[in-house]
Amino acid sequence: MYQVPQITDSIYYVGVNDRMKALFENMWSLPNGVAYNSYLIVDEQTTLIDTVDICYSDIFMHKLELVLQGRPIDYLIINHMEPDHGGSIGLLRQRYPEMKIVGNKKTFDMLSGFHGITEGLHEVKNGDALRIGRHEFSFLMAPMVHWPEVMFTYEQTNKILFTADAFGSFGALDGYLFDSQLPDRTAYFREMQRYYATVIGKYGGFVQKALASIDKQGLDIDFVCPAHGVVWGREGYEEARAIYDRLAQFASTPGVVILYGSMYGNTEQLADVIAQSLSASGVQHIVCHNVTKSDPSEILCDIFRYQGLIIGCPTYCGELFSPIQNLLQLIRIRDVKNRLYSVFGSYTWAPGAVKRLVPFADEMKWELIGESVEMKMSDLPSVLDAGWALGQAMAERLKA
Ligand SMILES: Cc1cc2nc3c(=O)[nH]c(=O)nc-3n(C[C@H](O)[C@H](O)[C@H](O)COP(=O)(O)O)c2cc1C
Ligand SMILES: [Fe+2]
Ligand SMILES: [Fe+2]
Repeated sequence: MYQVPQITDSIYYVGVNDRMKALFENMWSLPNGVAYNSYLIVDEQTTLIDTVDICYSDIFMHKLELVLQGRPIDYLIINHMEPDHGGSIGLLRQRYPEMKIVGNKKTFDMLSGFHGITEGLHEVKNGDALRIGRHEFSFLMAPMVHWPEVMFTYEQTNKILFTADAFGSFGALDGYLFDSQLPDRTAYFREMQRYYATVIGKYGGFVQKALASIDKQGLDIDFVCPAHGVVWGREGYEEARAIYDRLAQFASTPGVVILYGSMYGNTEQLADVIAQSLSASGVQHIVCHNVTKSDPSEILCDIFRYQGLIIGCPTYCGELFSPIQNLLQLIRIRDVKNRLYSVFGSYTWAPGAVKRLVPFADEMKWELIGESVEMKMSDLPSVLDAGWALGQAMAERLKA
């Protein structure tokens, strides 16, 4: 007989997999799909934590009914209002009109704006508690761990922390639910980091605050239940947490991303010279991204990962090649910190790309490394040494 997956005897996983959507937030690729997690706690009062994307509301409602066996939902705790989690709130309220909705002041502003719901609310503040029988919840505000209203919910009896987007990942759950069941941890952690770089990236300072407030409250944690991806056990949580600690501080590993645009391959030739120079000086991690072919989420993930970033760009109508311009904007709004940065470019009649790339160092408060190189047409021979020197300068700085 079909069984709804369980975390404990009374806490059910009622989330869904989405392998249909091509782009998360209509921007980020989903080669392995994504899961929208929701958790149902059955006690004297039944309580649901978060909902799912509206596209999956049918299957979601079925799962709820299977567990509830005709009982109503007494409480819906909303950790995050973004529509990938809040999408089914309106429908749920219609189906369970007596259901009290638990959130903070900012949650309720969004609840009214997205769903027109202004009644049947139970407002909570940081540290408040809610008992539903043998389970008791407490609430930790985690503002800007993606959106301003985000909060974490801690269930004291089973020592479970529900963390909204934090510790979440792209990737549907292929039958498994717990991190201990993951078929390929390395690949999963890469997807978790890609999720972080694209969705949470900018808010490292807020993530650090949220992590500190978990510690400050001295929460004993057996499971972490995020709103996407696997449920973490104790050891898995420690691993995921260590990655989060680093990402939130914009910590990086020695390595270089060479990000370039190229219409006819000239700029690309120079990118290769720089890559060879880096390799010759012992840099082990070098990732070349052609901006128009690489997936932007993979580019951002690698930029979050490596300390060096070298950007190359042809001059285009007196400006930067637009796909590079666009990538600069994606980096800018994430406020990526502490990178070592170099630039190169190309032109035919009036150079322009390099002088537009250089000020990005000041803007981002990054260290500009080496002499910039700008190649005229296909004259690679005249910039070979300069390109090589740029690679050497970056490699030396990475070693320092
Ligand atoms: C649509 C377009 C616009 C361009 N605009 C300029 C320009 O404003 N100034 C300039 O010096 N070269 C301009 N170029 C020339 C390129 O910058 C130059 O040929 C460069 O070598 C191209 O590098 P790539 O082969 O990597 O694409 C333009 C080329 C194209 C195709
Ligand atoms: Fe979110
Ligand atoms: Fe989310």
